[in-house]
Amino acid sequence: SKSNITDELNRPLRDLRISVIDRCNFRCQYCMPAEIFGPDFAFLPKNELLSYEEIERLAKIFVSLGVEKIRLTGGEPLLRKELPTLVAKLAKIEGLSDIGLTTNGVLLPKYAKDLKEAGLQRVNISLDSLKDELFGEINGRNVGVKPVIKGIKAAQEAGLGVKINMVVKKGLNDEEIIPMAKFCKDNELQLRFIEYMDVGSTNGWRMDDVVTKKEIYDMLKEHYLLEPVDPDYFGEVAKRYRYEGTNVDVGFITSVSESFCSSCTRSRLSANGQLYTCLFNGEGHDIKTFIRSGVTDEDISGFVSGIWHKRNDRYSDERTDETRAKRKKLEMSYIGG
Ligand code: GTP
Ligand code: 5AD
Ligand code: SF4
Ligand code: SF4
Repeated sequence: SKSNITDELNRPLRDLRISVIDRCNFRCQYCMPAEIFGPDFAFLPKNELLSYEEIERLAKIFVSLGVEKIRLTGGEPLLRKELPTLVAKLAKIEGLSDIGLTTNGVLLPKYAKDLKEAGLQRVNISLDSLKDELFGEINGRNVGVKPVIKGIKAAQEAGLGVKINMVVKKGLNDEEIIPMAKFCKDNELQLRFIEYMDVGSTNGWRMDDVVTKKEIYDMLKEHYLLEPVDPDYFGEVAKRYRYEGTNVDVGFITSVSESFCSSCTRSRLSANGQLYTCLFNGEGHDIKTFIRSGVTDEDISGFVSGIWHKRNDRYSDERTDETRAKRKKLEMSYIGG
C-alpha cells in the first residue's frame, strides 16, 4: 500500500530520477564543457556510486511513498556497466507504471533490445542538430549525427517509446529548429524543444542565450498547423501540440519562460547517492551514507518523508539574478536534468 506523502506546497511525490553515473562520452557545451571536464577531471570512483542493490532498495521505498515513474539518467546512463540488470530489478517493483531512460543515444544499437527485454518502456534521446559539423561542435567530441540516428532506429525497432530532446541555444542551433521539426515529423518522432537552462556553474548561462517557447512556436506556426494537446498526466513537463491531421506531437519544455514548479512531483538521486528536491537546489541529503549505516527500510522511509514534507522548492518560479547568485549550484552531470 502506498502512503502518498506531500510537500509544503501540497505536491505529491510521483517521480524519481536516478543518475546512475556522472561520466559521459559527450562534452556538450551546455552541460559538461570540455574545458572543465577535461582528461584530468576527477569523476566518481565506483564505490561512491550507489550499487544496483542499493538503487533497487531505495526505488522500492520511493514507490511505497507514492512514486509511479522512474527515469534513469547520467551523465550517460548507458556507460554504467550492465544497465539492463538494473532495469530488470526496477521492472519487478509493483506499483511502478513507467520506467524511462534519458540518453544521448549512441550506445542504443548495443543495448536497446536488452533494455526493452528487461522492462524499459521509453527512451528520451538528445539531438540538437542534424548537421554533422554543428552537432560535433555542440557535443564537444566531434560525433556526427549518424550514430544518434542509428540509436533512434535501434530503439524504435526494439519497441521502445522514443522522444527527442533538443536544447536550443540562441546563435548556436536556432537555425536547426525547423529542420529538426521536419525530420521528427516525417519520422513520427515526438520532438521536445528545451529552453536552455541555468543549471550548474560551468555553462556560462545568460538569459540572452535562451530561445523561448513563444519564439519557437511562432517559427513553427509559419510552417505547420498546430493544435494543443492535453497533458498525459498531472505535472507533465512538456507542453504539447499536434500537427493537425497527424498523430505526431511536438512539445516545449519551458523551464525559463513558463515555469512548471507548481506541479513538480520530481525527486532526484544523484550518481553519488545524494537526494535532491529540485534541479536547482544544491543542498543534497546524504541518503547513501544513511543507507550504508545499517538502517531499516522504515528508517529510510522516515528519512525520505521528512525531507519531502519540508520541500518548498520552486526555483523556476522565482528565477531572478538574485536567486541565481545566492544558490548553491548543482552540476547537470551529477543529477541528469
Ligand atoms: P518524460 O517522462 O518523457 O516527460 O521525461 P522528462 O521530459 O521529464 O525527462 P527528460 O530527462 O527527457 O528531460 C527533458 C528536459 O526537461 C531536460 O532538460 C530536463 O532537465 C528538464 N526537466 C525535467 N524535469 C525537470 C524539472 O523538474 N525542472 C526543470 N526545471 N527541468 C526539468
Ligand atoms: N538546459 C536545458 N537542458 C539541458 N540538458 C542538459 N543541459 C541542459 C541545459 N543547460 C538536457 C539534455 C538532455 C536532458 C537530460 O537535459 O540535452 O536532453
Ligand atoms: Fe552527456 Fe547528455 Fe550532458 Fe551531453 S547533455 S554532456 S550527452 S549528459
Ligand atoms: Fe521542480 Fe525545481 Fe524544476 Fe521547479 S525548478 S520544476 S521545483 S525541479
